[in-house]
Amino acid sequence: MTEPLRIGVAGLGTVGASLVRLLAENAAAYGRRFGRPVKVTAVSARDKAKDRGLDLAGILWFDDPVALAKSPDVDCVVELMGGADGKAKETVEAALAAGKSVVTANKALLAKHGNALAALAEANKVQLNFEAAVAGGIPAIKAMRESLAGNRVERVAGILNGTCNYILSRMELEGLPFEAVLADAQRLGYAEADPTFDVGGFDTAHKLAILASLAFGTAIDADAIYIEGIASIAPLDLRMADELGYRIKLLGVAERTATGIEQRVHPTMVPKTSAIAQVMGVTNAVSILAEPVGELTLVGPGAGGNATASSVLSDLGDIARGTRLPAYGVAARDLEAAEQPPMQRHEGGYYVRLSVLDRPGAAASIATRMAERQISLESIVQRKSAQTKDTTPRASEAPAVPVVLITYATTEAAIRAALKAVMADGHIAEPPQLIRIER
Ligand code: NAP
Ligand code: HSE
Repeated sequence: MTEPLRIGVAGLGTVGASLVRLLAENAAAYGRRFGRPVKVTAVSARDKAKDRGLDLAGILWFDDPVALAKSPDVDCVVELMGGADGKAKETVEAALAAGKSVVTANKALLAKHGNALAALAEANKVQLNFEAAVAGGIPAIKAMRESLAGNRVERVAGILNGTCNYILSRMELEGLPFEAVLADAQRLGYAEADPTFDVGGFDTAHKLAILASLAFGTAIDADAIYIEGIASIAPLDLRMADELGYRIKLLGVAERTATGIEQRVHPTMVPKTSAIAQVMGVTNAVSILAEPVGELTLVGPGAGGNATASSVLSDLGDIARGTRLPAYGVAARDLEAAEQPPMQRHEGGYYVRLSVLDRPGAAASIATRMAERQISLESIVQRKSAQTKDTTPRASEAPAVPVVLITYATTEAAIRAALKAVMADGHIAEPPQLIRIER
């Protein structure tokens, strides 16, 4: 019988517990598909006493995952603890240095240390696989690294965080408050240990950094990504988006431009009729525009134990079969440094929501400041405040009313400058809300 691949699983939380369960339940089928049995010989977590609903009899327990990585009973390490540094980094480094292949779902680690870890894997002639690190159960890494290897990628973009899409979907469809929906996402195992990574846009940025490296053959540079999260999205923005024919999605976008590779993460208004607008709940979508294939979109579950374990199993299958590929498609030493254009040069349409003091001169100020920067307005919507009287209010008692502008394409620099001037005119009660539009 073929020798089993003996794996050590570091981390038995949402993903790790699903993986160990699936490996136990489907051992025979995986053995046939992967060409040899895959056997969990060692595990590590913080709390040995915790009931995880797993049968760990006959499996070695390690309090220290670095010791698991070095164990002679482990051929391949699966890192499912999380965190950009600390034990996750030490465990992966120890395994690679010991000549053991690694599977990780840890995009925070890869976004920060991915270049060095890929080089370490290559130096030790082992594999660093991370299908689960981007878009949960969607085989986006394999698609980019292998299936599209004959293409020149122009753009890779998508909904890369299940928690945010779940939150925005339920806020929009059920009118629920942000905090209540976030608590559900945590209960369902979608959110990161620190959910600020999700809602602040950082998790999307980590995934985008990995995708951009694969897409453009560039070294990972997560620090160059422009990041905005979803915490500032108000129920009013979701309602206004709906009225104007849009949905709000947190998108990660990396694309070639005349001045370099733009990488950005921010809430985005997308037309309600577009394919990306139909992606709801924890579902993710990765859209790739490439030559010669054209545009393709992969859609599927972006988070959750079983969906993510599915991707880990795919990586384990490759390691069991002996497939060797550079982590980011080309050898680590051949990854290029990317030119990153500043966000100020970004061009596109904008949704702007202003809280305007309802008095003479306010609308004229907004129109003038936009015109001064050659910003054309596609639509303006003003809501009458509940307090607004039918007579013109005196300046001192003017209530604030929401005014929403949709602009035609302009630059980030122009819209920012126009809004600064509008604020300086003194007719605005709160900082403006600005959401980019992708058509
Ligand atoms: P989780 O539920 O918080 O589980 C983390 C596990 O790691 C726990 O079992 C924990 O032990 C263990 N652990 C943490 N620090 C440790 C240490 N110093 N030594 C030993 N064990 C340690 O996390 P998760 O949701 O499964 O996520 C795991 C990884 O997968 C993360 O990198 C995450 O970003 C990534 N990921 C998650 C999902 C998802 O949907 N959840 C999807 C894709 C990728 P205890 O149980 O004893 O506390
Ligand atoms: N917290 C992440 C998300 C897990 O919600 O997408 C999957 O990477």
